[in-house]
Order: sequence, then structure tokens, then C-alpha cells
Amino acid sequence: MARKVIFDCDPGVDDCIALMAALASPDELEVLGICTVAGNVSLETCTRNALALTTLAGREDVTIYAGCPRPMVEQPVAAAHIHGETGLGAARLPDPKRTAQDQHAVDFLIETLRAAEPGSITLAPTGPLTNLAVALVKAPDIADAIADIVLMGGARSEGGNITASAEFNMYADPHAARVVFQSGLKITAIGLDTTLQLRCTPQRHKALEDMGNAAGPVAAQMIGHVNAIYGEIYGAEGAALHDPCVVAYLLAPELFTTLPAFIDVETRAGLTRGHTSVDIYEKPKATNAHWATGLQADAVFQLLLDRIARL
Ligand code: RIB
Ligand code: CA
Repeated sequence: MARKVIFDCDPGVDDCIALMAALASPDELEVLGICTVAGNVSLETCTRNALALTTLAGREDVTIYAGCPRPMVEQPVAAAHIHGETGLGAARLPDPKRTAQDQHAVDFLIETLRAAEPGSITLAPTGPLTNLAVALVKAPDIADAIADIVLMGGARSEGGNITASAEFNMYADPHAARVVFQSGLKITAIGLDTTLQLRCTPQRHKALEDMGNAAGPVAAQMIGHVNAIYGEIYGAEGAALHDPCVVAYLLAPELFTTLPAFIDVETRAGLTRGHTSVDIYEKPKATNAHWATGLQADAVFQLLLDRIARL
């Protein structure tokens, strides 16, 4: 029985690659809808990219819902310096032939969850958590239908990427992140400590480039742009594949290691805005999430490659 999943994303290069792998896995993941949120680029651009990506993946059956155009409190911050102004790196996707649904993503989340069986739907956020937080504030009863949340966000030993002390998704909307971590829902948080272990090395980039199908070379053009950026900024051998880790976890959680943790998010302005305090030591302090500590990088990348090769 396929797992019912709702994605909530800010495509964005790595969001797109994550969606490719997810949409190529209909036997394991029944994607009920894709919500978009302002993050890496504007809401409008994220939504356009999500629509275009479903066309590339041959999955125009999956409906797209545009969500919040800005964080709950903070002013929007973007990451076009990493993802490019289009959010697609060096790739170009044809203009989508369809539009997003009229329904707002927050209302889609509420309506879908209220109609669902208890504990039947997984939420997979890979961007700022604005949509989910607003839905939880507007309709707390939706928690009953949420089986778990598998999100990309946060940093512990890795410090941060948008600032020295915060990861982008947490920094962009720290208030939303706090609402989610305080929700009492079952959360698996895959942060930089784990995602930075999954790099698109030259060999892996070439495997995408030489895939010989529609999606592989597009993914290579997307991540190739970020590889160049990483080379300039971080001297890293390849960009981290952050968001695809969420899909790999949904498909093969055994490839990851996690620890029970108590996670909270700094919402005050200043140097530590968006910092995730990830307490994995104090026992028996109450825990509110499982924190990913590592992954089997070769196996995770091969899993993603095999799925993208289907498109
Ligand atoms: O910090 C990495 C996260 O921020 C990823 O989800 C990336 O797409 C950006 O949203
Ligand atoms: Ca993202």
C-alpha cells in the first residue's frame, strides 16, 4: 500500500530533484498534492517550477497548491544566489500548460487532512514551514490525520548555511518552525548534519548527465549550477542534495541513522535567528523529534539515481 504524502516545497534545485524521485515512485508514495511556499525564490516562481517539474516527470495528475507568499512574521529572504533567479539553476523547463489549483495550500492541507483517516498522511516539507504552521494554527484538529512529518531543516554540528548559526528553511521562517516543533506531532528532522554528507560529486553529476532520459540531464543542469556555486563559496566537491534526503528517507529509512532529540528554534532577531537547538544528550528530557545524524551516501544516491532514471 503506497504511503499517502503531501509535499510542501520551495523549488529550488534540490526540491526539484526530490520531487523527481518522489514522482517516479508511485508504488511507494501516493502524492496527494504538492504545496508551494515562498523560500528559495518567490512563491510565483516556486509554483511555476513545481508545475513545470510535474510535466517533466509525466505526473500532471498531481495537483499543485500555491501557499504563503511570505513568512509568518519575518520579511521574505530568498536563496537565488544558490538556485539562480529561476530557481532551476542552469536548467530551463518549458512553461507549464496548466495552472495551480485555485485553493490555497493552507486550505488544501486543512481540507485534505480533515477528510483523512487518523494518522494516515505523511507531510514532507522541504522549504520554510509557513504553510504547515498556518494550517496548524488555523485548524489544530488536523493533527489527528498526520501520521508523521519528515522535513529537511535545521543544523546542529554543521552550524548553518544561510548564516553561521542557522539553516535556510529554519532561518526563513523561524516562527513557523517553532510552531511545528511544538506541535507534538511525530517529526523526523533531516538537517545539514546529514544532508551535507550527500554531495553531488563529479562522478555522481556525470551519472545524471549521461542518464539518457528526460529527467537525468535536467537534474544535472540544475545541480551543476549549484556545484559551481559551492565550488566558489565553499570549495566543496559538489553541492549537497538536501531535499532529496527527505524522499530517500521516505523510501528507505534504514539508510539513515537518527536519535531522539528535543528541538527548538530561535525566533529572536540577530545572530542566532533560526538557530535550531538540537538536544540529543540530556536524558530523560522530553523529546519532540528524531534528528537525523547520518546516512549511507552511496546507497542513498543510487536509490535517487534509480528513481530519476525512470522518468
Ligand atoms: O538549507 C537547505 C534548504 O534550504 C533546502 O530545502 C533548500 O532547497 C533551501 O530551501
Ligand atoms: Ca527546499
